[in-house]
Amino acid sequence: MPIYGTRPEAIKMAPIIKALQESDDIECEVTVTGQHREMLDQVNELFDIVPDHDLNIIRPRQTLNGVMTRTIEGLDALFEQVQPDAVVVQGDTTTSTAGAIAAFYRGIPVVHVEAGLRSFDLFSPFPEEANRKMTTQVASLHLAPTTTSRDNLLREAVNPEDIVVTGNTVIDALYEVVEKAVPFSDPQLQELADSGRRLVLVTTHRRENQGEAMRGVGRALARLSEQYPDVDFVLPAHRNPVVREAILPEIEGRTNVIVTEPLAYGEFTHLLSVSQVVLTDSGGVQEEAPGLGKPVLVMRENTERPEAVSAGTVKLIGTDEERVVTEVSTLLNDAEAYAVMANAVNPYGDGRAAARTVAAVRALLGRGERLPDFAD
Ligand code: UD1
Ligand code: UDP
Repeated sequence: MPIYGTRPEAIKMAPIIKALQESDDIECEVTVTGQHREMLDQVNELFDIVPDHDLNIIRPRQTLNGVMTRTIEGLDALFEQVQPDAVVVQGDTTTSTAGAIAAFYRGIPVVHVEAGLRSFDLFSPFPEEANRKMTTQVASLHLAPTTTSRDNLLREAVNPEDIVVTGNTVIDALYEVVEKAVPFSDPQLQELADSGRRLVLVTTHRRENQGEAMRGVGRALARLSEQYPDVDFVLPAHRNPVVREAILPEIEGRTNVIVTEPLAYGEFTHLLSVSQVVLTDSGGVQEEAPGLGKPVLVMRENTERPEAVSAGTVKLIGTDEERVVTEVSTLLNDAEAYAVMANAVNPYGDGRAAARTVAAVRALLGRGERLPDFAD
């Protein structure tokens, strides 16, 4: 039973669900919590996934404890009915940790996809660092995307036999979708992509950046849009009203700042592929953009994804308004600085993570052998 609830989990779970559905001796009951709604449904539609169970737990401005309790309660009833042999959870959202705990309490083995990421700061990202550590405690099979994440687990004394290095399934999803260069449904975006003008792609949603830090990012964007009238800044706005209330008033009325609804994954990856610079606090975008050779400025103080930082494609810049303006300006002005960061690297996967994941799940259930680890 794959269990997921938010946009990034849906994207990263989709290749696994496809591969599980191709196994003729494994029954796959897709379960969504509905922690996200529109942003989740958008991904399931794209990948043609129709969930078997939907807890529909979303509430406007929901709290972490609300998400946790509604998920555990809903899943507990479902486990009673379905009795899965294993559950698969992904990453570090509250859906994934609640799913892991609910299964563990029922004695159901937990498979943790994207295991072992650590920022080593319990409060940043919040609550994700704590979430993934909690899931590690109750998981039976730990699927680490990279050797760095495997080593983090080994340092925490996880049994090496319970760890497989798979690569990240986000690269499987990206490879499947980005090549299609899906046309934009919004004519303004299509025009922009065809124009050859430089484009800075911006996303932000992290809880610890909400409020003043996000307003500062909005002010930085407003200043940049004035300094660079020949550049377009595109912000697909997260659905969270708290995010919108912070950032949108700061950029209102700027003609070269284009705010859109969350883009379907095909359109988003297309936009990523035609961008010059990416400015983000997203986890998934940090993994995808390096593969496309796009410099990524990460608006966070730390990251649990150090691989692309080491490779030089990702730079941590925090959220200070001045710093955001300076760092984006450098990449727009300085061709040499740009070239240093714009090298395509793929430390997060080779597009075969789902195959390794499903082989490991099958082995856990006593069907077949694991595949060799992903060598990054
Ligand atoms: C969640 C995850 C975060 C992940 C992010 C991906 C937790 C604690 N947070 O954060 O790790 O990086 O998803 O985007 O698990 N909303 C809608 N429709 C949607 C989605 C959200 O209206 O499709 C609104 C609702 O008012 C909701 C609010 O956004 O209450 C916040 O959603 P929530 O899932 O709690 O937090 P995210 O910031 O999305
Ligand atoms: N994404 C998308 N549409 C958008 C913005 C992002 O499909 O408008 C995708 C992006 O390609 C990545 C994922 O959503 O795969 C990241 O989600 P998010 O930033 O919400 O969460 P995080 O990865 O930080 O948990």
